[in-house]
Amino acid sequence: MNPEKPETSEPQGGNDDTLIDFLPTKAPTAQPKLVGIVVSVDSSGKPNGMTVAWFMPVSRDPPLMVVAVSPRRYTYSLIKQTRDFTLNILDSSLIGEVEFFGSVSGRDVDKFSKSRLTLSKSKFVKSPYISEAVTILECSLYADYPAGDHQLIIGKVERLLVKKDAASDNIYNLKKIKLLLYLGEGKYTVTSEEVYEYP
Ligand SMILES: Cc1cc2nc3c(=O)[nH]c(=O)nc-3n(C[C@H](O)[C@H](O)[C@H](O)COP(=O)(O)O)c2cc1C
Repeated sequence: MNPEKPETSEPQGGNDDTLIDFLPTKAPTAQPKLVGIVVSVDSSGKPNGMTVAWFMPVSRDPPLMVVAVSPRRYTYSLIKQTRDFTLNILDSSLIGEVEFFGSVSGRDVDKFSKSRLTLSKSKFVKSPYISEAVTILECSLYADYPAGDHQLIIGKVERLLVKKDAASDNIYNLKKIKLLLYLGEGKYTVTSEEVYEYP
């Protein structure tokens, strides 16, 4: 307890000198985010990948993940067409691929033919997964909601794969892997080895 602080739940602050007023449109950069590549396929089975950082789990049962995908992305039209995708979470060694898959469109370039990433056949969905990914989620399209200038693509997780050497005791072993985090404005960082454990 801070002896200087009066015992009240009323707001006592007022010193905003320590805060910077950012534009609300900068909200997406207000927190570091994991980075992945969403892989989807066209009706002939040709794969395309797109870098994503706006994704998170939203339900345990059924297991659902949401990815915010702009309707302008080629990936959005592919997911709507073939109704599944894989979400591939990457470590820091793949930062070059992350930038490449996030800067050109599959409408113009066959990204996988120009990248060192390799694809493997999924078990439950048509879209393949990235063999080099640390974590792979095979997802079927569960729902799609409009949200401002993005669409919330909700995927039902049909299969979850984690690289053997990336996890121990059912959680990531951060001594062995450095997951890539996106800070915004073209800047990245990685997870640290520190783990704080509470009972
Ligand atoms: C680090 C990073 C994160 C990104 N995250 C997203 C995202 O979450 N949602 C989105 O719609 N676009 C995101 N993008 C932009 C797309 O990856 C980019 O527009 C891509 O070229 C679209 O590819 P496509 O047209 O082949 O689908 C991100 C780009 C980068 C570099």
